[in-house]
Amino acid sequence: MTGRRRIQIAQPVLGEEEWQALREPIETGWLTQGPKVAAFERAFADRHGVRHAIACSSCTTALHLILAAMGIGPGDEVIVPSFTWVATANAVLYCGAHPVLVDVDRATYNIDPGVIADRLTPRTRAIIAVHLFGLCADIDAIAAAAPGIPIVEDAACAAGASYKGQPAGSLGAAAAFSFHPRKSITTGEGGMVTTDDDRLAELVSRARNHGGSISEEQRHRGPKPYILPDFDMLGFNYRMTDLQGAIGLVQLGKLDRFIDERAGWADYYRRELADLGWLRTPLAPGNSRHGWQAFTCYVDEPRAPRSRNEIMDRLETLGIATRPGTHAIHMLGYYRDRFGLGPDDLPGARDCDRCSVSIPLHNRMSADDYAYVVEALHRID
Ligand SMILES: Cc1ncc(COP(=O)(O)O)c(C=O)c1O
Repeated sequence: MTGRRRIQIAQPVLGEEEWQALREPIETGWLTQGPKVAAFERAFADRHGVRHAIACSSCTTALHLILAAMGIGPGDEVIVPSFTWVATANAVLYCGAHPVLVDVDRATYNIDPGVIADRLTPRTRAIIAVHLFGLCADIDAIAAAAPGIPIVEDAACAAGASYKGQPAGSLGAAAAFSFHPRKSITTGEGGMVTTDDDRLAELVSRARNHGGSISEEQRHRGPKPYILPDFDMLGFNYRMTDLQGAIGLVQLGKLDRFIDERAGWADYYRRELADLGWLRTPLAPGNSRHGWQAFTCYVDEPRAPRSRNEIMDRLETLGIATRPGTHAIHMLGYYRDRFGLGPDDLPGARDCDRCSVSIPLHNRMSADDYAYVVEALHRID
């Protein structure tokens, strides 16, 4: 192994079609939310089997918009798995509500439905089900544990994934997607809310545009473009630009190919790494279509030749980028100090924080790259 190779943890696939898609917004000068965003929204809603898709600036703002539109505020509680990107819980705090951090299942990395019932109170207003790394959370078990409590999907990693044949994004009251470049499809930054609820869609759509009663596009194309709309609710500027919308539309057309390709290489990794007793490769239950945003393994440290961090170090010197799966929110300084939490309060999330490692899986890798990663992992002693 030479160590001269460099394999990134993620690399978007952008090319000629995306360049061409940018031509129209640049030539017409329509740069902010407009016809390209509208087309992207329509196509995204169709692909994910929902009535509404509302584009915004990130998954973080998508989550904030959903919770705000649900009327969640001070005094309310929202259940959040602790092993997820910090934005999931931050969105609850933006609303002035309390994120009730709960533990995750070490096997799936997703919320452990078995711990939910004990954390429900009369103030519980929603559960955020995170589909971490592209694997859908067990929505049926979550719904059974908390009858009547709305489920919000954090589908940041789950574009194109499905659960028991139903697309991510259509499994709860509403869902939030991310188009950050580490996701399967990207618009640079970007997010999407999906929902079947007409009223929620209307509120989200207005709130992302300062709370205006009609969009800029409706106003400009309407009979009296010189009249400003009313602003009768508190809103934000969380819009997606038409440049991003144009790229998103092209990327969405490639989503299934990207996932199929990743699924093929995920199978390869699972086969080729099966003999490493100390490395547990991710689960891919037969009843779900994994979105394969990341290939996140679990280092069984008592059996491993080295610690997780030493293994990451070793791979880095061989030119292979890795990352911890994500972090445990209850161990992050802000949450630890504000809520007086310790690592052992949520041991599943703690262990995933310490032992998970994502190895490269993306659509710019060659067969040689995959073989190189497999060989490097076998050489760790
Ligand atoms: C599970 C999860 N939720 C939310 C986010 C936030 O997404 P964005 O960067 O689009 O705001 C991420 C991003 O990594 C994520 O992984």
